Amino acid sequence: MQDILEELQRRRAEARLGGGEKRIAAQHARGKLTARERLELLLDAGSFEEYDMFVEHRCTDFGMAERKVPGDGVVTGWGTINGRLVYVFAKDFTVFGGSLSETHAAKMVKIMDLAIRNRAPVIGLFDAGGARIQEGVAALGGYGEVFMRNVAASGVIPQISVIMGPCAGGDVYSPAMTDFIFMVRDTSYMFVTGPDVVKTVTNEEVTADELGGADVHTRRSSVADGAFDNDVDALLQIRRMMDFLPSSNQSGVPVVPTFDDPERSEPSLDTLIPDNPNQPYDMMELIEKVVDEGDFFELQKDFAQNIIIGFARMEGRTVGIVANQPMVLAGVLDADASRKAARFVRFCDAFNIPILTFVDVPGFLPGTAQEYGGLIKHGAKLLFAFAQATVPKVTVITRKAYGGAYDVMSSKHIGGDVNYAWPTAEIAVMGAKGAVEILYRRELDDPEKIAHRIAEYEERFANPFVAAERGYIDDVIMPRNTRRRLIRALRMLRNKHVEAPWKKHDNIPL
Ligand code: HXC
Repeated sequence: MQDILEELQRRRAEARLGGGEKRIAAQHARGKLTARERLELLLDAGSFEEYDMFVEHRCTDFGMAERKVPGDGVVTGWGTINGRLVYVFAKDFTVFGGSLSETHAAKMVKIMDLAIRNRAPVIGLFDAGGARIQEGVAALGGYGEVFMRNVAASGVIPQISVIMGPCAGGDVYSPAMTDFIFMVRDTSYMFVTGPDVVKTVTNEEVTADELGGADVHTRRSSVADGAFDNDVDALLQIRRMMDFLPSSNQSGVPVVPTFDDPERSEPSLDTLIPDNPNQPYDMMELIEKVVDEGDFFELQKDFAQNIIIGFARMEGRTVGIVANQPMVLAGVLDADASRKAARFVRFCDAFNIPILTFVDVPGFLPGTAQEYGGLIKHGAKLLFAFAQATVPKVTVITRKAYGGAYDVMSSKHIGGDVNYAWPTAEIAVMGAKGAVEILYRRELDDPEKIAHRIAEYEERFANPFVAAERGYIDDVIMPRNTRRRLIRALRMLRNKHVEAPWKKHDNIPL
């Protein structure tokens, strides 16, 4: 009996060593933790239950029959984050570069199936060289199986990908179909084809970092939702984010105890809006002063900064926040901002997270770059997403709500449940100057007349009351009371239930 127990311990120790001490040291020398070290940080202490530690590949080509490593390059299982169940897989770069074989894929598929059945999130930690080259089509088939699970799980359970090393070839498309991707600066990169292939095909010379580093994907491509300085920071921030996320589309949002008074008034908000309507102010200040304990988990903060998206809590319950940012491009909606916010709105709607929308938007960005770049289709994504969302939607217009952007930003007309405005709101087809220049074109050479016309237009439209008179705005609220009013609205909407007509699925302008 003792022998058998010892044999088990020996086998476990061997599996835990992955690709061996030399490769573990090389991993550390690059500033990266090993797969198991990462899982230890990600999950609650002692909660990890590992699956399939003894799985080995079945490949016999290229001398692989003699090169077997238990676990086969991916550590899988489940554990808890602050007590809540999550399923995990972590690619082990020390074993064949974390490359994906048939059996490696089967391990991932097993826990993804469990996650879908048991309705809990999947978190994948990536650090791998793509398809196991020695396996050929068996590896490609494995990817296909994983992709199918990603799609089946989409909108049912949250899926999160953390890129913590190379992520190339087949490995990129699974994260790309998950809800959120995070990267680690300097040690991670993502691309479909690497620098060598790029050089051969296009003759461009780029480094891996220039091609697919964290900066590229958080600032330019928007493939990633955020980046962190190192493995430890990344994993701790993922733990923080998971506290905001529901376990599934049927679980409801998590409720976290809060000491922040729901009745808290914030007098400083009464003076947040500058007297000059063209002067910017920081929308983040409003968000942080209104939500529980100022705790806001921002997503995509380096991309399309003219719109802010992220998670916060009101009365301990998760809300999704979408807000124009007047500090950047005056908070205008452009193609990037529309895409960014649309995807977020759809995530919130899929997982029953109420949406708070703070509006200060001068319209859609004019110009050839925008029109050639498909502003119409991208803007329509946001319009479609807000209009389709059946979660509670509460909107506050702080200043400008001009033109089509007024409609798009969760207005009453597209299903806003509670629509408030601050007294500083200006709800109109466009700003006074632009309107007057069109309406009174013939008077443009008379500055006095024009000034009078502008004053007249401002008097009529630069306020929230025209909209309030029509019931498009439910109330004009004191800025200082925003938190209290939002919390009451959210409470009132807690049992909101909307049935949409049957359809196979929609056809959102992709
Ligand atoms: C098998 C692999 C591997 C792979 C790396 N290794 N990638 N083994 N299949 N795809 C092994 C190496 O042989 C090496 O083994 C160990 O992992 C570490 O690799 P190094 O090259 O020494 O590390 P590094 O210099 O850090 O480079 C990492 C890397 C590079 C950038 C990921 O290894 C690389 O370019 N790998 C190939 C990437 C690739 O082209 N993959 C296929 C993509 S096609 P030893 O034993 O020496 O430690 C694809 C199609 C799928 O994925 C499409 C599905 C839709």
